[in-house]
Amino acid sequence: MEIVNIGGPAPKNTLDAPIEHVLACHRRIEQKLDLLLRAMETPGDEIARVFQFFDTNGVFHTQDEEESIFPRLRPRVSASETALLDSLCAEHESIEALYARLAAGDRSLESVRELVDRYHAHIAREDTELVAVMQRHLDDADLRAISREMKQRRGI
Ligand SMILES: [Fe+2]
Ligand SMILES: [Fe+2]
Repeated sequence: MEIVNIGGPAPKNTLDAPIEHVLACHRRIEQKLDLLLRAMETPGDEIARVFQFFDTNGVFHTQDEEESIFPRLRPRVSASETALLDSLCAEHESIEALYARLAAGDRSLESVRELVDRYHAHIAREDTELVAVMQRHLDDADLRAISREMKQRRGI
C-alpha cells in the first residue's frame, strides 16, 4: 500500500524540527480523535477519512517515535527514563490493538471512547515527559538525523 500524507495541513514546515513536529502531530491526532467521536454519532464518509488519517499519518507518527526517536534516546537515558520509553511503547501496542478492533468493525461507542481516552492520555504524557527527555538528550546532529528519517518515511 502506498502511504501518502493526507488529513490536514502538510507537516512539511515542522519536519525540519522533530520536537515541534511531534507536538504538531499530537495536535492533529487530537483533532482526529474528536472527529472520530463525532463521526460515531453521524456515520458516513467522515469515519473513513478519519481511519485514512490513522492508517497513514498515525502510522508515520508512531514510527517516528519507535524507529527514530526512542532508539537514539535509549543508550543515553536514566533508568526512570528507560521505564518511560518502555511504558510509552506498551501504550502504543494497546492503542494499536484498540484501533485494530475498530478497523475490524467493532464500532461500539464504548470501544471508540476507550481508544480516544487512552490516546489522549498517551499524548498528554508524551507532550510533557517525552518532550522533556528529548530536550535533555538529543543534540542538533540527532535532531537533523531524525528530521531526515521523518522525511524519508514520508517520501519527501
Ligand atoms: Fe506515542
Ligand atoms: Fe506521539
